[in-house]
Amino acid sequence: MEVKRVAVLGAGLMGHGIAQVCAQVGKYEVNMRDIEQRFLDSGMTMINDSLARFVKKGTLNEEESKKVLGRIHATLDLEEAVQNADFVIEAVTENPTLKKAVLMDVGKFTPSTAIITSNTSSISITEIGAATGRPSQVCGMHFFNPPQLMKLIEIIRGLKTSDETVELVKQVSINLGKEAVLLKKDTPGFIVNRILSQALNEAVYLVAEGIATPEDVDKACELGLNWPMGPLKLLDYIGIDTDLFITEVMVKETGDPKFRPSNLLKQMVRANLLGRKTGRGFYDWTK
Ligand code: CAA
Repeated sequence: MEVKRVAVLGAGLMGHGIAQVCAQVGKYEVNMRDIEQRFLDSGMTMINDSLARFVKKGTLNEEESKKVLGRIHATLDLEEAVQNADFVIEAVTENPTLKKAVLMDVGKFTPSTAIITSNTSSISITEIGAATGRPSQVCGMHFFNPPQLMKLIEIIRGLKTSDETVELVKQVSINLGKEAVLLKKDTPGFIVNRILSQALNEAVYLVAEGIATPEDVDKACELGLNWPMGPLKLLDYIGIDTDLFITEVMVKETGDPKFRPSNLLKQMVRANLLGRKTGRGFYDWTK
């Protein structure tokens, strides 16, 4: 099957970037859907800002940038977004009930041949597949933040995902200029978050136990491990709530206490200290 039109569900931190990569690198026609106009507007603003950075850098010219924007169609209507799509990438909020409700509708409205993927960080692909009513055509397609720059896509097989679906998702990933890794089994946290969630958690414990400041924990990882940004800056970047959610899923699904989140992480979510998106997390982002 040749993919021409992609529906990206969600225009948030990940969704806008995924929609942009599909239109910019994959040269696909893209329907980007969110539930409120303000979310679509903010997604389009982030896409415009990102395209302006590529233009400034000289990796894209003004004319190409306009063409990319012309390929992105923003809509509030789910049926309109998916009814003519060959390929769906779901990137709505990481909430299982919400995701499953959206995917049930996707299963109803997309053409019977369409492939449905999810950018979930931690929710079971097998469960998502079941929600769509066509699990053999469902696959995990996990991007990394910022999707415009990060090279990796994790492809995750659900229990009923067909070989043809995996092959097509691999092909689309290559068309998006990404490198893919394949998870042969549906497993909590996939590869990256299974490793990262423990590392980020340890960084929070170091701060919560008063052993080092966030600045020094980050400096240690940046200079001692060559991380592009330290773990606490990265937590602010990903969103403290998103990380807590991933960690809690890891504990619930594996029953393994090694993933247990620090109490400080929970308190920060209760205090709305979610990182960049609320202006404060481990750092002050308002300046
Ligand atoms: N679009 C286009 N260009 C962008 C951009 C965007 N959204 N964001 C940054 N850039 C460009 C900047 O314009 C800049 O360009 P120049 O080199 O021409 O100046 C360049 O990228 C570097 O940006 P910055 O100077 O602002 O900052 P930086 O050097 O720290 O790079 C970064 C930013 C690429 C995000 C880098 O810090 C990094 O790689 N951080 C780690 C990111 C990471 O680990 N992501 C994974 C998170 S885990 C996840 O996503 C999975 C999950 O499920 C939670």
